[in-house]
Order: sequence, then C-alpha cells, then structure tokens
Amino acid sequence: MTANELRSKYIEFFVSKGHVQIQGKSLLPENDPTVLFTTAGMHPLVPYLLGEKHPAGDRLVNYQKCIRTGDIDSVGDPSHLTFFEMLGNWSLGDYFKEGAIEMSFEFLTSPHWLGIPVEKLGITVFEGEEGIPRDDESVEAWKKMGISENRIAYLPREDNWWGPAGTTGPCGPDTEMFYYIGDTPCKPDCKPGCGCGKWLEIWNDVFMQYNKTKEGIYEPLARKCVDTGMGIERTVTVLNGKDSVYNTEIFAPIIKSIEDTSGYNAANGEGYGSNEEKDRSVRIIADHVRSAAFILGDPRAVSPSNVGAGYVLRRLIRRAVRHGRKLLKGHNEDGKIIHFLSPIANVIVDQFKGPYPELTENRAFITGELDREEEKFMETLQKGEREFEKLLPGLLKDPRKIMSGRLAFKLYDTYGFPIELTEELAGEHGMKVSREEFDEAFKKHQELSRSQSGQVFKGGLVDQGKMAVSYHTATHLLHRALKNTLGEHIAQKGSNITAERLRFDFTHPSPMTAQEIKKVEDIVNEQIQKDHPVSFETMSIDDAKASGAIALFGEKYESRVKVYTIGKAPAVFSREVCGGPHVEHTGVLGKFSIQKEQSSSAGVRRIRAVLE
Ligand code: ALA
Repeated sequence: MTANELRSKYIEFFVSKGHVQIQGKSLLPENDPTVLFTTAGMHPLVPYLLGEKHPAGDRLVNYQKCIRTGDIDSVGDPSHLTFFEMLGNWSLGDYFKEGAIEMSFEFLTSPHWLGIPVEKLGITVFEGEEGIPRDDESVEAWKKMGISENRIAYLPREDNWWGPAGTTGPCGPDTEMFYYIGDTPCKPDCKPGCGCGKWLEIWNDVFMQYNKTKEGIYEPLARKCVDTGMGIERTVTVLNGKDSVYNTEIFAPIIKSIEDTSGYNAANGEGYGSNEEKDRSVRIIADHVRSAAFILGDPRAVSPSNVGAGYVLRRLIRRAVRHGRKLLKGHNEDGKIIHFLSPIANVIVDQFKGPYPELTENRAFITGELDREEEKFMETLQKGEREFEKLLPGLLKDPRKIMSGRLAFKLYDTYGFPIELTEELAGEHGMKVSREEFDEAFKKHQELSRSQSGQVFKGGLVDQGKMAVSYHTATHLLHRALKNTLGEHIAQKGSNITAERLRFDFTHPSPMTAQEIKKVEDIVNEQIQKDHPVSFETMSIDDAKASGAIALFGEKYESRVKVYTIGKAPAVFSREVCGGPHVEHTGVLGKFSIQKEQSSSAGVRRIRAVLE
C-alpha cells in the first residue's frame, strides 16, 4: 500500500461514516503563539475542541502536514522524522469512545480497508491514577471488537494521556493501536510494552473528556470530543512489512535523487545500504530537505533566518548541507558551488503534487531559497571549520573532553557557526561542548536567538489565550482600518500573534507616513470605544465573498466558512472570513498603538502593535 492509497482510503472510509473532509492547514500556525509549527492534525482545531462550532459540522476528517522538531537529534536512525503526515478524524460532541474504537477497528481490520489480522494488533489504554479512574470504557469497547485481554496493556499518563495544550484546558485519556512487526507475538500475553520490542504505534484515539482547571482539578467536560491521529509514514512502513520508514516507496525517489546528486551511488560501487555512516547522512538529508521543502512551499512560508520558524528552517537546511558534504566528492567545482539540495527538493515537489499542489505553485521559491541558503552556509562553513581545526589541538589537551561554551560562542558570534555544528564537530573528536556556558554567553549577548523563540513554547494556548484572542480581534480592526486609510489594494500577507503583541504583514508599495499611522490608530481606537459586538455566521465561501467579507487570496477554504462581523447593521465595521476565536465586544481590547511600521520584503510592509 502506498501513501497515496492510504491517504485516500482513510478519507473515503471516514466520509462513508458521515465525516466531512476539511482542508489540512498551514504548517505555520497563524494566531497561535504557543508553537512554531503545526504538530498534529488537532492543532488547527483547538478552538473547536474548546467549544467553538465548526462550520463543516461535528464529524471531520483530513490529512495534515506536521513538523515536530523535538526529536531532531534522533533523525538519522531508521524511524525518526521531523516532517510527517497525519491522518485524523474528529468528533466534536458527536460519537465518543465506543464509536471511535468501532471505526478504528473496522478501518484497521476489514479486508475492504487495511485488512490487518487481529492477531497483529495490540492496544494500550490509560491505567488510571488518583482522582481519575482507569479507562474501562475503552477496554470494554475493544473487547467487544474481539481484542483479548492479553493484548491490552494498561499504561500511565506518560503513555496514554493527551493534553492539555497549555497548563489548563481540555484533555483526556487516549488509547493507542500498535502493530506487531515480527511474525507472531513472542508469547501468549505479548503486548505493547513487551520486552521483545516489536510493537509499533500506528494510531492514537484521544478522548477529550476533562477540563483541567487552574487548581489542577479534572472537571468532566459537557461536550466530549474525539481526536485521532495516524502517522502515514509509519503505517505505510508496517503495512508493507518494512523495517524503516526510509525503506518505503515514500523515501525511495528522494533517496535515489540524493544518490544521483551526490555521487554516493551504485555507479561508484556505493549507494544507500553500502556504508552505515553515509546512510545515516542520506536519511538526515532526506528528512531535512523534505521538511524544508514543505516549510518553503507553504502559503505562509518563512525564509531561513535567526528567529522562530525561520531559525528551525535554517538549521534543517544547514544540517542537510553539512551531511551532503560527507557524500559529495566536492562541493565546489571550478570555484562554483554545486547546488546539492534544490534537485532533491524538485523530486519532492513532483512526488507530492497531488495531495500538496502548493509545493508546485511555490517551486521557484523553494529551490531559490535553498540555493541561496546553501551558498551562504558554504561560506560560513568554510570559515568556521577552518577556525575549529585551528582550535582542535588545544581542545584535545583537555582530559575531560569538554570544549568551553565560550569558545563555541565565539565561533558562533564571529563566524555565524551554529552551536549544533560545533557540537557535531566536537562529537566527532569525542568531545562535548559545555552548553550551559554557551547559553550563558548567548544570553548575555542578547542576540535574537533560538532561546528567545523558545519562549513561545512556554505556557499554553489556554493560558495566553485571552490576550491572543484580543490581539486576534484587534488584527481584524487593523486590517479594515488599513484598507480604509490606504486603499482596498491592501492584502494580508501574514499575521502572527503572541500574548504580548500582534504583527501584521500586508502589501503596500511605500512606507506609511506618520499621518497615516496615526489615522489607522485613531480608527482602531474609535471602533474599540464604540464597544461593537463581535459575532459570526456560517455560510458558503461564495456567499461570504459576496457579502463583502475579506477573504485571503490564495488561502484554501472549506466549502462552508465562518464570517466574523464586528459591529451591528447598520454600523458594521468589518467582516472577515476567519475561524475565530474572538472577543465578544471590542470594548475589552484597551488602547491600541502601533509601535513600528517597517518593510518586511519587497512590496510588503509590517506593522507591530500592542494593546495596553
Ligand atoms: N493528537 C493526537 C496525536 O497527535 C491524536 O497523537
């Protein structure tokens, strides 16, 4: 079974069970200060899991591109990936445990769908803890399906609990489905967690049934939800009897192009599978270029930079380049840099043109940015490695095998040599870098840094939620005020909200004058003072546009969308297609002020504004 087949089957199955297919969302979440990337299918659905009504209904299904960077250092082994696709189905207050488990079981085992033999399945459920009972409802549902007790493992919170996204909010136990990758389970009660290590998780059904309060109490939720996630790459791996995601048809064309581009191939008596160390580099390149291509191919793409998502992108690209150099015979030919990554990215764009047409639309941007970053990094690398070599004899004298963090920082500060690469180089000589010392030096320097962008991970959507929601409504006011002041040509190019400020990018050919900035501020504050009610209706996207609602050009919308209106007829100030959430009255926003107006890129201006 190919990834394309699995994707289609999953959607077809859940549509046949009354679910509506919704579009997967951007990899770069808008209006969510808590994460840099979309990490699960549920992530863009958080407002709906918190109680908002979804325009497409109560049963949803989709496929979602995801990035998780938590395991980035493990990429290179046979199973870890930073980019992956997640299949998901949701019940928003509709079916619960029994319904979800019945459907999961049917999809996994029915010969019409995946046809997995029941003996190959193992299940985990939440074992319970003080104040929260064991999830016996799920156990009963599985037994009804014919799963026997000796294939059910009861595990604690670390394994079988999901959420909340922040420190408070919806959460609940989950039940996970595992596939036995050996021939037959090693003993009668072999189950997930068995020492034989042959159970691989393929699907997770999360049951959001509690709201965790500030006091740490788990209150039962009135509207219980189901959130499930199946990883495409893993599932394709086990369904085809493979032992590694990298040995599936998903990675075959990518690996082939790495072999072709690098010369680490059969024609040279080498190629993937012939040298463990080089194979590891091939896997890192395959994963990282795939992630980079999807980030750059996103409608909300960022470019490589030193902050936030741009920093992660830069790190992915640069690490791929570095591993490319381990395979390439030479990166410079006739003094010209060989572009190693863009040919690989082209293969990825072609491979995913069906499910992700945005990659094709943004092909030139993807390859252009990869080439540019590769060139920049080559210069940095050459300088940095030369400096490291110079330092090496001194470093090797340290009997503790620790490289000082201050020295690592100097490499970073003077040559832009990333700490991760210093750590890798040091590691190759059996040394560790004192990361504490590096971080200290880094902080002192007050660079725009990864540690700073790391702050967005602190706290959760629910904690920071209130301010973020206010900024979200303020963004709608600002958008309308800009159109009223500068003209209808203004189009939103990006929006980013934290609990501290909003940032808004829009098309406009010239800097705003002081008078224009003042006028926009005044309009927004006037609308806040009017204490307009904020409301929404659900309608078709065509009706939404016909009603004068602002919709984002190039954005993919569901067939039915929510339109948020600020003000009441005849005093409507703004209408915009948007998933929400928003404040109920503009009066709660406080005083709006624009702190900065600057260029963001050619023809695009950026405003940073706060509410006080
Ligand atoms: N949100 C759940 C997961 O990602 C389904 O595993």
